[in-house]
Amino acid sequence: MRKNEMALVTGASAGIGEDIARDLARRGFNLYLVARRGDRLQALADELTREHQIQALVHTQDLSTPGACDELLAALEEERVSVDVLVNNAGFGSFCPTMEADPERERAMVRILFQFPVDLTRALVPGMLERGHGQILQVASTASFQPSPGYGMYAASKAAILSWSNVLHFELRGTGVTCTTLCPGPTATEFGEISGHISNRLQDATKMSSEAVARTGVQAMLQGRATVIPGFANKLGALLSTRMPRWVVVPLVARVLRGSQ
Ligand SMILES: NC(=O)c1ccc[n+]([C@@H]2O[C@H](COP(=O)([O-])OP(=O)(O)OC[C@H]3O[C@@H](n4cnc5c(N)ncnc54)[C@H](OP(=O)(O)O)[C@@H]3O)[C@@H](O)[C@H]2O)c1
Repeated sequence: MRKNEMALVTGASAGIGEDIARDLARRGFNLYLVARRGDRLQALADELTREHQIQALVHTQDLSTPGACDELLAALEEERVSVDVLVNNAGFGSFCPTMEADPERERAMVRILFQFPVDLTRALVPGMLERGHGQILQVASTASFQPSPGYGMYAASKAAILSWSNVLHFELRGTGVTCTTLCPGPTATEFGEISGHISNRLQDATKMSSEAVARTGVQAMLQGRATVIPGFANKLGALLSTRMPRWVVVPLVARVLRGSQ
C-alpha cells in the first residue's frame, strides 16, 4: 500500500484515466483528478474517498490551451499539493485526412498529447528528485510505432511523447524517479466516438478493456519500466511496425484503419 502519497491523473473523468485512478486508489494513493467534466470527476472522487479511505481532490480545466500547464501548476501551489506520481493520460484523437483537418484542433491535439505532458513533467520532476522518489506514467499509444493515415497528427504526437519519455527514463536512472510509457492499442472507451472513427470487426475483436490497460500501465510504472504495451496483439503489431519498412507499414495501417468508414 502507498499511503499518503499523491497521484495526479489527467483525463480521469472517463476511460483509461478513470480506471488508472481507481487502480491507484485501491493501492492507497491520494488523488488529484483533472479533466474538463467536473461533475464526473467529483462523482469519482466521492466514490473512491468512500471506498478506499483516501483523499481525492478535483480540478476542472481544459488542458489543450496554450497556458494550461502554468494554470495547473498555480492550482497545485495554491492547494499545497506535492505530486509523487504523475499520470499524463488526457487526450483525444481526430480521424480525418491531414489536409482536411481543422488546424486549430490539430494544434490543440499536439498541445494536449505532447507539449502539455512535457511541460508538466519538466515542472514536477525537480521536486521528485529533491525528495528522492517519484513516478511518471505517460499514456502514449501503439500509434507511437505507426504513422497512421487518418490519425496523422495524433500518431506523430504519440511517437514524440514515446521518444521523449524513453530518453527521460534513461536520463533519470539511479535517481529514484522513473518515467514509464504505456502504449495501448484499441481500448473500449469514449475515444473512438470522439475521434469520429468507426472501428471495424478486427479492431473490435482486439479491443481491450480500460481496466486491463490501466492495470498493466500502473504495474509497469510501479516497477519502473521504460515502456509497456498491453496485450499480445498490440505487442505483435508494434513489433512488426518497427521491423517492416515504412512503405509497407503506412498503406497497411491505412487499410486496417479504413475499416467500416
Ligand atoms: N481508447 C483507445 O483506443 C486508445 C488507444 C491508445 C491510446 N489511447 C490514449 O489513452 C488516453 C485516454 O484516452 P481514453 O481512451 O480513455 O479516451 P476517453 O474515454 O475519451 O477519455 C479521455 C480523457 O481525457 C480527457 N480530456 C480530453 N480532452 C481534454 C481537454 N482538452 N482537457 C482536459 N481533459 C481532456 C477527458 O476528459 P473531459 O472530456 O472531461 O475533459 C477524458 O477524461 C489518451 O491519451 C488516448 O490518446 C487511447
